[in-house]
Amino acid sequence: MVEQRKKIDCATIIEYTVRMKGTEVGKVGKAVLGQREGSALTIGQHVLRSKIVVAPMVGITDAPFRTLAEELGAGMVTTEMVSSEALVRNIPAALDKIDITPLPIPTAAQIMGASPEAMAEASQICVARGADIIDVNLGCPVRKIVNQGAGACLARDISRAAAVFEAIVSAVDVPVTAKIRTGWDEDSLIAPELAAALEKVGVAAVTVHGRSRAQGYRGLARWDIIRKVKERVAIPVLGNGDVMDGPSLAERWTDSGLDGIAIARGVVGNFWFLRQAVEQVDHGTEIPMAPFAERVQLARRHVRRLLDYYGEHKASKVGKKYLAWTIKGCAHAARLRTSLQEATTGSEMERIFDDVLESGEATSGWFQPTFISGEG
Ligand SMILES: Cc1cc2nc3c(=O)[nH]c(=O)nc-3n(C[C@H](O)[C@H](O)[C@H](O)COP(=O)(O)O)c2cc1C
Repeated sequence: MVEQRKKIDCATIIEYTVRMKGTEVGKVGKAVLGQREGSALTIGQHVLRSKIVVAPMVGITDAPFRTLAEELGAGMVTTEMVSSEALVRNIPAALDKIDITPLPIPTAAQIMGASPEAMAEASQICVARGADIIDVNLGCPVRKIVNQGAGACLARDISRAAAVFEAIVSAVDVPVTAKIRTGWDEDSLIAPELAAALEKVGVAAVTVHGRSRAQGYRGLARWDIIRKVKERVAIPVLGNGDVMDGPSLAERWTDSGLDGIAIARGVVGNFWFLRQAVEQVDHGTEIPMAPFAERVQLARRHVRRLLDYYGEHKASKVGKKYLAWTIKGCAHAARLRTSLQEATTGSEMERIFDDVLESGEATSGWFQPTFISGEG
């Protein structure tokens, strides 16, 4: 009796043709949204073009970074984490972080806080500034944040966290998502229970960084716990933690049953990995690392975006960080570093990029920065 299974965009419409004695008497259909099965990842009304998304990073995922991530194929991008209290108090530095350039993919605004009222109001501010999704940080391990009862601390108290999400869900029309850790420490790996409670109050998807708060960035992410979250809820679950290259992606994605993967550190200083990850997960194809010159040109494009966006003064500070990481992967790194210290203008940075290209790749290969801390 089951006659057809149609795929429409991301939604799989399972259509049953009902026949009696061989004659068609009607059809019944059911849309299965946001499921994996070859279909796209769906968050609320947003059908993501890729199951690979870029995880939020303070000091990194600003507007210029997000535009490049979009160009390299990401399904969704997220702002840096911003304090709800700062948004509500109209603090310019906080509002500046929710500067959302319209992109062909959804941009989530990530907020952090503990008060349901402030979080609801901050969500409305983000939506008014163009956010397509509100993401709430329930994983930040930083003491200053935890001491305010926010980030990973809010996640410890499931009913308090649910109340915060309830307030946000009723304040905005866009989907609300959560970014969580596995739990507070190894004795309280409550991510599955937390995700189930959040699903009940209307959360549209959850991203799980597979480390506890106590772990910080040490050890390996527990993908077994991430999978437990997936088993517990029907909403899309995105796995996060230690996806740094093709093999680590394959190991964590294959047979995971997850709906998507959020990558953070793996794309910093290496935008090309984003393209590789998208091809690998969405199309099952492996593409090689781009040649050195192309990767350098990507870093250069990024620095040019920073210059356009921030102006020379601020961009030369922000851009130096990326240029320094690029230099670490080059031959003659010591000499290039000295020129970088002296560079204060866009044209000086451009000259260093020329020099980087002339110098060529270090024998040790492309360098990626290492982070020992972050906000989620
Ligand atoms: C520099 C840095 C800043 C971060 N900032 C945020 C943030 O603002 N919000 C958040 O939820 N997580 C933040 N994180 C955590 C990442 O989103 C991610 O969960 C973590 O790095 C593990 O993923 P990865 O192994 O792909 O890097 C940050 C991480 C780093 C390294």
